[in-house]
Parts: sequence; structure tokens; C-alpha cells
Amino acid sequence: MSAWTTVCHVEDLLPERGAAALVGDQQVAVFRLEDDEVVAVQQRDPFSGANVLSRGIVGSAGEAVTLASPMYKQVWDLRTGACLDAAGKEPQDLRTFDVVVDADGRVRVAG
Ligand code: FES
Repeated sequence: MSAWTTVCHVEDLLPERGAAALVGDQQVAVFRLEDDEVVAVQQRDPFSGANVLSRGIVGSAGEAVTLASPMYKQVWDLRTGACLDAAGKEPQDLRTFDVVVDADGRVRVAG
């Protein structure tokens, strides 16, 4: 069973920009996509070990919405966490977190 944490209001998030949130004791990077879908992945960049992924760059690759690390430029699928480009390293996927936006626009993340 997972607990849901309200992290912000959807209007607090800028489209295609990340925000850092604390869910339980976990640092999470929350992103509002162009279609107002909200997704969340771990804040920790597995390649550098730094808690920086909310400052990553959102882009696209075909149907996928992608996140590029601000550190060493690895790229993930933002919805699935799958590593798409390990930039020469052993691929490491991101943990994803379930997100719901309630009728009042509150963003809740499952920890
Ligand atoms: S180590 Fe923190 S931004 Fe690079």
C-alpha cells in the first residue's frame, strides 16, 4: 500500500519544467507535460549521484517524452523511466512514481 503526498497545485508547475518535491523521505522530480499530464521520477541522477533531475531538460523522441540529465546528458523516457541513451555508460533506469491530479488540481504523488 502506498501513501499519497500532496506536493503542489498543477498551476504551480510550468509546462515542461521540473520541480523538486519530498515524498516521505524520497526526493522526487515532478514534471508537468504539455498536455497537463504530470509525471514523477527519482530526483537522484543515477550516473552522477547528484539530486538534480528536476533541473533536467524535457524533450521528445518519437512518441516518448524524454528527460536529459543536466549533468552528463544521459536521456530517459520520462513516463517509463527507461534509459534511452546512457551516453556510453551502463544503462540505468529511473524509478517512476504514480501521480494523480485531483479535481481541484492538487498533485499527489505515491511514495
Ligand atoms: S553536483 Fe550538484 S549540480 Fe552538479
